[in-house]
Amino acid sequence: MTARLLEGKIFSAQIKEEAKTGVEEIKKNFGITPSLAVIIVGENPASKVYVRNKHKTCEELGIKSIVVEMSEHSTKEELIEKIDELNADKSINGILVQLPLPNEIKSHEEEILNRIDPLKDVDGFHPYNVGKLVTGSPTLVPCTPAGCLKMLDLAGIEIDGKRAVIIGRSNIVGKPMLHLLMSRHATVTVCHSHTKNLPEVTREADILVAAMGKPKFVTAEMIKPNAVVIDVGINRIAPKKLVGDVDFESAIEIASAITPVPGGVGLLTVAMLMQNVIKAAKLQLNI
Ligand code: GUN
Repeated sequence: MTARLLEGKIFSAQIKEEAKTGVEEIKKNFGITPSLAVIIVGENPASKVYVRNKHKTCEELGIKSIVVEMSEHSTKEELIEKIDELNADKSINGILVQLPLPNEIKSHEEEILNRIDPLKDVDGFHPYNVGKLVTGSPTLVPCTPAGCLKMLDLAGIEIDGKRAVIIGRSNIVGKPMLHLLMSRHATVTVCHSHTKNLPEVTREADILVAAMGKPKFVTAEMIKPNAVVIDVGINRIAPKKLVGDVDFESAIEIASAITPVPGGVGLLTVAMLMQNVIKAAKLQLNI
């Protein structure tokens, strides 16, 4: 039997519909239009596609969107000045600096991201928001892991008491995913490049989250029969060929449910960003 396909477009449509209602309520009750500012530095082609998608989705939902395009050779000081300006601008609710930053300023990434007002930090990367998540009072949560959790909920997949295994320990996905699943009472293991006997560990998982950025790394032998497999990887293996971190063709034969790539959790990331813009607007309105 092949697995149930967890298609991103179905779930993202639901989340966006919810967000649209949220936008309308804020407009009606408070007379403001929720707004997002995205800063893109340089010419990374994948980043440009992501930023265009964010802009289009904002427009679709009635969120005001501005895109600040900065030169590849912008200095750390120029970027920080822009962030300070957006922090002070009361008409802007959410600020996002698209990653990766160009090599020239990559080493300052932490300082740059930490400059964003935590109440406008729609990526949920600021230490204040990370701390809130870890201590069990989540506010603005990173969009990709939040999207994975939302998808599990919308698909009616139980989390409480389940064994969850995450492969990858990044700040953007692996670590927040750990806290989200733990807060929902899963027993969670985080694996990474130094994990011994990885297949033995992953075969314990009722819910397996692959987020380490290695194309088709997770094969059927690493999956427990009937596990739910969430593939966060986006790997370009040829100019027009994207694959996930999971070997989809073999995994679909053993899992009970699986997300495809493309068309899986990636679509939920943008939808959750929209929800974070609304959340940020509400935090600023004190509601
Ligand atoms: N680049 C790839 N994923 C992300 C993300 O979640 N946030 C930002 N800011 N940049 C990214």
